[in-house]
Amino acid sequence: MLDSCKIIDLPKVKDPRGNLTFVESIRHVPFAIQRVYYLSDVPEGAERGGHAHKELHQLIIAISGSFDIHLDDGHSKKTVHMDCSHSGLYVCPMIWRVIDSFSSGAVCMVLASDYYDELDYYREYDQFISDAQRAAK
Ligand code: TYD
Repeated sequence: MLDSCKIIDLPKVKDPRGNLTFVESIRHVPFAIQRVYYLSDVPEGAERGGHAHKELHQLIIAISGSFDIHLDDGHSKKTVHMDCSHSGLYVCPMIWRVIDSFSSGAVCMVLASDYYDELDYYREYDQFISDAQRAAK
C-alpha cells in the first residue's frame, strides 16, 4: 500500500518572469479533483494530519517552504521531505499521515478526490490499525 504513495512530478513551464506549474484532473493525478485546501501560517512545532482516510485520494504539494510527511499503512512507515512546488506526494486511501517540521511561511496545498466528509476519516489510530491489518489479511 505504501508503495502506491509516490512523488508525482508536475509540469513546469520555465520562464525568466517566473515558473508556472499546473495540475490537470485525472491527467496528472490518478483521480478526479473535487476539492482543494491548504494549510498556512503553521506555527513552529505544530503537527497536522494525525488521521487516515477510508476512500479519499490526495496529492500534497509544498507550494511554499518545506515540511515532512510521515506515512503509515499499518505495516510499514516512511517519511517524505517536501520542499518542491512542482511535485506532489500522492497519498492513497487507508494511509495514516502526520505532517510536521513546517518551515516558516510554509504552505501545504492538498488536492483531494472528494468533498470534505468527516465520515471518511479515521481519527483513532488504534481503529485505523485494526481495520488496515484486517483488510490486508
Ligand atoms: P483536518 O482534516 O483534521 O486538518 P489537518 O489534517 O490538517 O490537521 O481538518 C481540520 C478542521 O477543518 C476539521 O474541523 C474539519 C475542517 N475541514 C473542513 O471543514 N473542510 C475541509 O476540506 C478540511 C480538509 C477540513
